[in-house]
Amino acid sequence: MGDVFNAIGRPHWRVDAIGKTTGKAVFAADLSAPGMLWGKVLLARRPHARIISIDTTRARALPGVHAVLTAHDLAFDRVFGVVIRNQTVLAIDKVRYYGDGVAMVAAQSQITAERALELIDVQYEDLPGVFDPEEAMKPGAPLLHDSAPSNACIHHRVRKGKIEQGFAAAKLVLERTYRTQHIEHAYIEPEALLAETTAEGGVQVTGSIQNIFSTRKSLAAVLGLDLARVTVKHATMGGSFGGKDEVMTQMACRAALLARATGRPVKMVNERERSMLESYKRHPYILHYKVGVAADGRLTAMEARIIADAGAYASMSPFVTWRSAVQVTGPYECPHVHADVYAAYTNNCYTGAMRGFGSPQVNFAIESLMDELALKLDLDPLELRLRNAFEQGSVTATGQRLDHHTVSIKEVLSRAAEAADWSVKRESLNTENRSRTDGKRLGIGLACSFRGVSLGAEGVDAAGTIVSIQSDGSVIVHIALTEMGQGVQSAMSLIAAEVLGIDTQRIKCLGADTGRVPDSGPTVASRSTIVGGQAAKQAAEAVREVLFEVAADALGVAQDKLVAMGGQIVQRDRDLSLAFNEVVKMAYEQGKPLMGFGWFRAPATSWDEETGTGDAYFTYVYSANVAEVEVDTETGKVDVLRVTAAHDVGKAISPAMVRNQIYGGIAMGMGFGVLEQYVIDAGIPTTRNFDEYLIPTALDMPDVHPIIVENPDPTGPFGAKSIGEPATEIAAPAILNAIAHATGRRIRELPADLEMVLLGRSLKKPVRSAGGTGKF
Ligand code: MOS
Repeated sequence: MGDVFNAIGRPHWRVDAIGKTTGKAVFAADLSAPGMLWGKVLLARRPHARIISIDTTRARALPGVHAVLTAHDLAFDRVFGVVIRNQTVLAIDKVRYYGDGVAMVAAQSQITAERALELIDVQYEDLPGVFDPEEAMKPGAPLLHDSAPSNACIHHRVRKGKIEQGFAAAKLVLERTYRTQHIEHAYIEPEALLAETTAEGGVQVTGSIQNIFSTRKSLAAVLGLDLARVTVKHATMGGSFGGKDEVMTQMACRAALLARATGRPVKMVNERERSMLESYKRHPYILHYKVGVAADGRLTAMEARIIADAGAYASMSPFVTWRSAVQVTGPYECPHVHADVYAAYTNNCYTGAMRGFGSPQVNFAIESLMDELALKLDLDPLELRLRNAFEQGSVTATGQRLDHHTVSIKEVLSRAAEAADWSVKRESLNTENRSRTDGKRLGIGLACSFRGVSLGAEGVDAAGTIVSIQSDGSVIVHIALTEMGQGVQSAMSLIAAEVLGIDTQRIKCLGADTGRVPDSGPTVASRSTIVGGQAAKQAAEAVREVLFEVAADALGVAQDKLVAMGGQIVQRDRDLSLAFNEVVKMAYEQGKPLMGFGWFRAPATSWDEETGTGDAYFTYVYSANVAEVEVDTETGKVDVLRVTAAHDVGKAISPAMVRNQIYGGIAMGMGFGVLEQYVIDAGIPTTRNFDEYLIPTALDMPDVHPIIVENPDPTGPFGAKSIGEPATEIAAPAILNAIAHATGRRIRELPADLEMVLLGRSLKKPVRSAGGTGKF
């Protein structure tokens, strides 16, 4: 690998920019097909009830209605789920949350479909519900799933050292409880897709689908079809953030069943209210921490009991909480760790994947806790972190030695702190606050993280890519990972362009389609650039081999002396070269195959669920954010003024796209920190639309200063790791720490909205015991 790059790290066009800015891009809601019907689903609109009977007679009789289906009309699998199969295509005997689907209709128009839903008569017997995950775990709580002995969906353990010994060695022991809220993904495009039956008896579903292979697997099982007869294609997506997984699998199964029942294409589009009722959210967490430190601020022991609200179905809860377990101590070395992480079923909206995936919640707790410790010890929060942060060769809570990549947590902390002028401002803002008379207070706070990249020990982590060169030298790249706005198509094009030594303008990247590329797993876990990127690199290298063979022969030189750069195949030592296009032409004339296949399988990881030990992830990303805020102590309003964000991405394939991810990540993390809250009151969502659910707008955005740190990773393509999720996972604690610095008061429950800042409690949720005195 040379230092001079052809495409990587350079300015480039985004592959998807023209379509999205001109309006040419086709989103799922734009799709139509001859004879198309509209599908609509009847939602339970009650949190927990037994279904006594469903009478669809009147709905069926409505003119324009082509089919009305309930769970009893389904012939094959009626449940699905990637980890625990307990989510239903339509409710079978019970409804478990307000947005559960009970019956569905296909009709000629959306209005007719809605009318038909009103004519379905469902008799329910309401059941007692449980809405708090801690209550749900107690004996005697109403049970959600008859197949499970309790409401505990999952329990992960982490055990390191001897916890009593760690507390005995502590000079100070602090116990704290933190809470986080339900968060809506707020993708700009609500769920939408089109399902069609195919000529050979299969189905094709095109839509706003994040994970095409897992959706295909469930479709095949629900329809009783071979995987080969089911095709899932992704349409241009208007965002997902982890949110268009199970909810889209469910919608795909429903629409495909209706398409099969009617013999017509069936389209489904959720309006915003239905989307918010039905779609899963980010997990609320209750995090009890007990931590011991020595006199010098070194951590001696960490005990944690963490309970996530899984809501009605398992969805990704087992994996989301596993990440929380692995990262339970934050990026700090602690000799004695004892953690239990649970997810519990409740009659709230189910919860699942959302950008961060179990890290934003633990990061909020641990990074708040570090600041609380620093205050007690009279240490600078940065200094306390530097004393405890991982170093090269440190051993994590799960017993993994960090020695296969550059451990750069201290570097990112120092870089962010220096750029934000931390040590000066931490003092000068105090002075400034004392002289202010307008009720406003300034504060500066920081937070940092280590994040396991990719799926880790969740499962097999491999992906494929096909690169084919056309006879004129233009290139088609088939990728299996979906473009959600994160820029995966551009990243893969840059990598292919780099290997082939050509301009990205000559590359066409095809949208993900299960029929074209082998199952490459889900587009999640910040894995696309590192795992998918290696596959793209290998595919391009495979086809480049063919070009080198042809060029070596033509030039009469050794193949291993050739490089591809600047649209040329060059023999550097002897100043010989041939144009890329010319070599391609020769290869075609010689009947050579100009198609390369790349398949990359990530290095091995391991996990022992009983002992909570293992090499959880093959590499980690290190991040630090510094936030500066102004708090209006008369209204409770927090203005986030500036965020400095340093991330070690290994190598920035596209620095512009890395910065984009950071801007978006800060916006999302800020929403989590100070604005957003999806409120469910005794199982009934009271937040129905974006008039009540506030997300940051451009006007709320702070001045964001990204710092790209590059310590090349041995596994990643050209050293690249990832940035999608690291970018969002520590903005909230940095902001909350800044608020505490400004006001002198610690908020332990998100969001730090007006009421929380002003009154110390949320007016939107039932009154609960405040954090800070939590007992185990
Ligand atoms: Mo992502 S939250 O790993 O879909």
